[in-house]
Amino acid sequence: MKPEIQANKIVILSGSGISAESGIPTFRDANGLWHNYSWESVASPSGWRAHPEVVLEFYNERRLQADQAQPNAAHRALVELESAYEVVVITQNIDDLHERAGSSNVIHVHGRLNHARGTSDAHKRYRIDAAPILMGQLCEDGTQLRPDIVWFGEDVEYMEESRRHIATAARVLVVGTSLTVFPAASLVRAARGRAEKILIALEMDKLPFGFKFMRGKASSIVPYLCNKWLEAHRNGDLNS
Ligand code: APR
Repeated sequence: MKPEIQANKIVILSGSGISAESGIPTFRDANGLWHNYSWESVASPSGWRAHPEVVLEFYNERRLQADQAQPNAAHRALVELESAYEVVVITQNIDDLHERAGSSNVIHVHGRLNHARGTSDAHKRYRIDAAPILMGQLCEDGTQLRPDIVWFGEDVEYMEESRRHIATAARVLVVGTSLTVFPAASLVRAARGRAEKILIALEMDKLPFGFKFMRGKASSIVPYLCNKWLEAHRNGDLNS
């Protein structure tokens, strides 16, 4: 039995493209991070085992960059949407720009830069804000601290919770992701046939079924869309 769709619920699935205009590079666009770094080396358990100091330095730089960045008009527009709708933001991003813009319901499926975790099974987590993680810094179990990031080959978090949110949304907005990394990319399949489904990106190889493609920058299209939905709510027309 499929869960009931909530007419007033909007779920966002965001990727690095929503933070690009805040000065944080994406991964696969021209000059993206994976053109300048090997993900096997800095974003995998084998890279961590081989040279943890290299991995720590990579994420210490990412953490500083994210800390110096500011939310943009796309992040802010999603916050305004909360004035009329239940909004859930599911993000693949490890920066905290959604939270800093004011989004109140953010799910990070690939981890967070502003937290560290131990390397024991308990995965003890610690808020570190913009501070670097250094070799020799240990968790309370005495294990080396690592970035609280989901690396390639590691289990992605909150997938069931995210699927449930998407399956009960009347509107699903995918913004700034190439939908090339699984299982996060499979979340779009939970969107319901009756839901309004929109994808915003600069380019999209394979548009997921039922989604309308809006080509362009998040900072201009997301505010336009949010204003349209807020207008619809003011007119009491939740299905426009
Ligand atoms: N506005 C809207 N979309 C944009 C913008 C922008 N200003 N700039 C880039 N994009 C779009 C691109 O068109 C592309 O579709 O953002 C997407 C970026 O794709 P990727 O670089 O593949 O990033 P993402 O989808 O977030 O990566 C997924 O891969 O490397 C792993 O764990 C990492 O969470 C990440 C995952």
